[in-house]
Amino acid sequence: MELDKLKFSIVLTIFSAMTVLHAVAYDPLDPHGSINIKWDILSWTPDGYVAAVLMNNFQMYRQIMSPGWTLGWTWAKKEVIWSMVGAQATDQGDCSNFKGNIPHCCTRNPTVVDLLPGVPKTQQYSDCCKGGVLASWGQEPTAAVSSFQLSVGLSGTSNTTVALPQNFFLLGPGPGYTCSAATIVSPSVFFSSDGKRKTQAMMSWTVTCSYSQMLVSKNPSCCVSLSSFYNSKITPCPSCSCGCQNNENTSCVMSNSRISSVVEASTSMLECTSHMCPIRVHWHIKANYKEYWRVKITVTNFNYRKNFTLWTLVAQHPNLNNVTRVYSFLYKSLMLFSTLNDTAMFYGNKKNNDKLLEAGLNGNVQSEILLGKDMSRFTLEHGWGFPSRIYFDGDECMMPPPDSYPSLPNSAPFSPTASSTPAIFLILILLAFWCSLF
Ligand SMILES: *[C@@H]1O[C@H](CO)[C@@H](O)[C@H](O)[C@H]1NC(C)=O
Ligand SMILES: *[C@@H]1O[C@H](CO)[C@@H](O)[C@H](O)[C@H]1NC(C)=O
Ligand SMILES: *[C@@H]1O[C@H](CO)[C@@H](O)[C@H](O)[C@H]1NC(C)=O
Ligand SMILES: *[C@@H]1O[C@H](CO)[C@@H](O)[C@H](O)[C@H]1NC(C)=O
Ligand SMILES: *[C@@H]1O[C@H](CO)[C@@H](O)[C@H](O)[C@H]1NC(C)=O
Repeated sequence: MELDKLKFSIVLTIFSAMTVLHAVAYDPLDPHGSINIKWDILSWTPDGYVAAVLMNNFQMYRQIMSPGWTLGWTWAKKEVIWSMVGAQATDQGDCSNFKGNIPHCCTRNPTVVDLLPGVPKTQQYSDCCKGGVLASWGQEPTAAVSSFQLSVGLSGTSNTTVALPQNFFLLGPGPGYTCSAATIVSPSVFFSSDGKRKTQAMMSWTVTCSYSQMLVSKNPSCCVSLSSFYNSKITPCPSCSCGCQNNENTSCVMSNSRISSVVEASTSMLECTSHMCPIRVHWHIKANYKEYWRVKITVTNFNYRKNFTLWTLVAQHPNLNNVTRVYSFLYKSLMLFSTLNDTAMFYGNKKNNDKLLEAGLNGNVQSEILLGKDMSRFTLEHGWGFPSRIYFDGDECMMPPPDSYPSLPNSAPFSPTASSTPAIFLILILLAFWCSLF
């Protein structure tokens, strides 16, 4: 009895320690990653102001997927939104006090969403109307912005009487973001298209929203499995990485069952696996050459109801500062942005594999990377060649425990210097060739 209690409390302690680790929103691989929202008052009106709202996704590798962002706030006084272009409030609220000119929105807590592509020109605004989809900054900075304009009434009409909106929230599209209070900053400056005239906002304020995986789910949303050419062992994703099959809330479907016959309507339709993750990243050390080495990456989607568009994969991995070639995926080093020197992001090619299709035959994307060796450090021992951290779409993936990594067979210990001797090099090439057959 006592022992059970002790065991339970130890498990609890370990679990809460892990929880605390996950709750830290600061991401060392993307220290400046956040979504910044800027309000610029462009002009005063008799009863308020016209403002442009600009949303910038400065996160290197986390995008906002369809169905897009939702932005909300609480008015400080009794403000109304007379009109809006480039976005719309989802609820008009009670405008029964108004005669003649009816406002676009009268609620104290407006909730705003982007418009869909193809709306009439009169409702458009620059960088609007993308269904709320924001690319990540690392992948496509020009597609990482969204903006709209609104005309506010019953508010202050000078920079001393305007009260800043409060309690900002952002859904992207689900929970995960926490927004700061609005802060007054020096007025934004705009240049005319020919660059010869400068104008400035009457007043500007900003709000910063940052992401924490912990607010989305206690569980990770992806896992990593490992293999190598030098050991036939495949290290699977840790079981229950993203939940367990017997959990009452995690339903799943057998891979061989007919999906169409499953009547249950749910946005998530996971294939039953021991890890229960929607995404698995398989990392394979494929070959060891004299000055280079090669790894193969396979990302598999286990969700029968979801295509991942504009996906991103981030790895902290040895020798990523010496990438010689990346096949099939696009690649961007993150070393300029983070304090670490061995991190990079990978993403799909617009034409071929920008979309990671739902589970099934085509539900995966693959790539190989050729890395130059850092001769003083390179080794195949102790799992050195495996990544230390993997993120998919900005969420950190569950890694297998280090003691389960594929290891060098004891009978034939390799070393980086030995691999330069021709005979062993030949064996390695043969081994690599043999592995690539599978
Ligand atoms: C308000 O405007 C005045 C001049 O028009 C300026 O001196 C002052 O700094 C402004 N205050 C803020 C908070 O922008
Ligand atoms: C299942 O979901 C319900 C409501 O979403 C929640 O109250 C309950 O705690 C969940 N159960 C488990 C075991 O996670
Ligand atoms: C995923 O993409 C495929 C091919 O483009 C399409 O047929 C399918 O309906 C999409 N599924 C979802 C859930 O959007
Ligand atoms: C990368 O960082 C490690 C430890 O922070 C350091 O020892 C190493 O010299 C760095 N490599 C390069 C190429 O800057
Ligand atoms: C990069 O790889 C090349 C080829 O193996 C090697 O000569 C060079 O020293 C490596 N550079 C670093 C910084 O590791």
